[in-house]
Amino acid sequence: MRGRLRDQQTYAKAVEIGEVMTGETVGEVIASADPAFAIGTIAVGARGWQTYILSNASQLTKVDGHGPPISTYLGVLGMPGTTAYTGVTDILRPKAGETVVISAASGAVGSVAGQLAKRAGARVVGVAGGAEKCLHVQDTLLFDDCVDHRALDLRAELAAACPHGIDGYFENVGGAVQAAVFDLLNPYARVAMCGMVSQYNQDPFPPGPNLGFVVGKKVLIQGFIVSDKPERFAEWRKLAASWVQDGSLKYREDEVDGLENAPDALGGILGGRNFGKLLVRVGPDPR
Ligand SMILES: NC(=O)c1ccc[n+]([C@@H]2O[C@H](COP(=O)([O-])OP(=O)(O)OC[C@H]3O[C@@H](n4cnc5c(N)ncnc54)[C@H](OP(=O)(O)O)[C@@H]3O)[C@@H](O)[C@H]2O)c1
Repeated sequence: MRGRLRDQQTYAKAVEIGEVMTGETVGEVIASADPAFAIGTIAVGARGWQTYILSNASQLTKVDGHGPPISTYLGVLGMPGTTAYTGVTDILRPKAGETVVISAASGAVGSVAGQLAKRAGARVVGVAGGAEKCLHVQDTLLFDDCVDHRALDLRAELAAACPHGIDGYFENVGGAVQAAVFDLLNPYARVAMCGMVSQYNQDPFPPGPNLGFVVGKKVLIQGFIVSDKPERFAEWRKLAASWVQDGSLKYREDEVDGLENAPDALGGILGGRNFGKLLVRVGPDPR
């Protein structure tokens, strides 16, 4: 979303002045001219920051209104969860015994990426901002360790948490965290480049790292965009819905009330004010 508020080319088209801000919403159909979307249907879609949306059926996805809470279709079962699933499956490919590091570990994407790496048998180390988030990452998400990126000596703390180096890195933040991780990468490590939230508010963007080590260590660094593989959304919902319902896939949501508070809430993400998937409530849940 922050990238779309810049007047420059990113992977997504910028939002024009006066246009509705882009974003995903989940809600209930209250009027319909399409029999496939009867009144009462729960649907999710990227229809922008609005209390009411007018949409073609082709731009919406029906979801199970009687299963997991509908908010989960914006978070753990929605775009962020699918992002984690795609990056872990296609690029990170964690194996039992490997060490995997996840940045923004308590967040919407990172929390799922780390739990998937744990399911694959890896030793998973999170990086998060502050003691409360690190505690959540270890005690609730059950990562093996968590390092506070505001620690006085981040490099030393990360090295202590990863005594056998790092085989996989799920990159969400860039900056100082990325530099500390890159120093510890093992030969043939994989880096899934998901995002670099530490620099979204910077103008110009900071200079890049020296990538000489990639050659000698034969490291794979690959970016990805979740929307490139639309089929993954349904695949992930099918795989993860039962994990959410049986409680084995943990998630945390951070709810802000009222659309008028959405701009400030978006700004808060860029400094780590959110704790879990940030949601803006525009009305009560239908059931
Ligand atoms: N590639 C794709 O298709 C795709 C799709 C969705 C999201 N993304 C990316 O995935 C990443 C995570 O997104 P999300 O929605 O799950 O957000 P999130 O993790 O729920 O929230 C962002 C978190 O980033 C951390 N952060 C902010 N500024 C930081 C800084 N300067 N240094 C270190 N950490 C900082 C904060 O956590 P702490 O308090 O722990 O620092 C903040 O809570 C973002 O980079 C986003 O752009 C990519």
